[in-house]
Amino acid sequence: MTMANTPAPEDVARWRRDWETMMRHYQPGRDDLLAAGLTAAEQAHGRAPERVLDVGGGPGTTAEAVLRRWPDAHVTVLDIDPALLALTNAALPRVRTVLADIGSPGWLPAAGGPYDLVLALMTLHYLPEDRVRDWYVEAGHLLAPQGLLLVSDAMHDAPVSSKSQSGGMDPWTLWWAALSAQPSMAPLLTERAVTLSGLKSAEFVASTDWHGEAARRAKFGETAVLHLHAGHALMAFRR
Ligand SMILES: C[S@@+](CC[C@H](N)C(=O)[O-])C[C@H]1O[C@@H](n2cnc3c(N)ncnc32)[C@H](O)[C@@H]1O
Repeated sequence: MTMANTPAPEDVARWRRDWETMMRHYQPGRDDLLAAGLTAAEQAHGRAPERVLDVGGGPGTTAEAVLRRWPDAHVTVLDIDPALLALTNAALPRVRTVLADIGSPGWLPAAGGPYDLVLALMTLHYLPEDRVRDWYVEAGHLLAPQGLLLVSDAMHDAPVSSKSQSGGMDPWTLWWAALSAQPSMAPLLTERAVTLSGLKSAEFVASTDWHGEAARRAKFGETAVLHLHAGHALMAFRR
């Protein structure tokens, strides 16, 4: 039996599947990109990372891919969105979730650490330029020795593929509309509206050189571009 205010497991599974489909619309080649990042993390450590933090990890689909590859890893998903974290909790009870806002340095103590791997996929564009610079400094404090930071987002110098023509509402709006149509999600969506009140994506986009420079200023010694595709890049940073 499913409680009135608890989403049914099959709904959670469907929304998380649809989330990945939606994200692939914005970030084609996402599976290859993540695989390249996880391989780099293994090479950096010479073994599977044990402690992984996914910043802005949303409904935990990346966390699930991490656990598929490294079943013994301790994975933390940090996000500002209580509705998305509830989907992570429902699907991945082993994963630790942290509700925190990376828009200010207060997220650092909440994040815990140290981590062998810190990921931020399609998340940093929510922050304004100055905050992204400071975020690199903060992320550096969370890394264990040999730890790797992986950042992926839209970047100016990534080659652009021809845009798919999808008339009507954009996939992001459609995904949230489907969630809102589910009565069991109403309390969480109300909590979300309060928590995210006034939060707007800065839609910040820079080049791989800009991110490399921000990381160097944050005392990262090694920078690599691991993947460039369809307007998006994956970059790796080591202290
Ligand atoms: C486009 S989604 C990407 C989610 C996930 N990383 C993925 O690739 O599927 C951006 C994520 O960043 C989170 N986010 C945006 N602003 C944030 C903030 N200030 N603090 C923490 N998380 C934030 C959103 O709630 C959302 O889960």
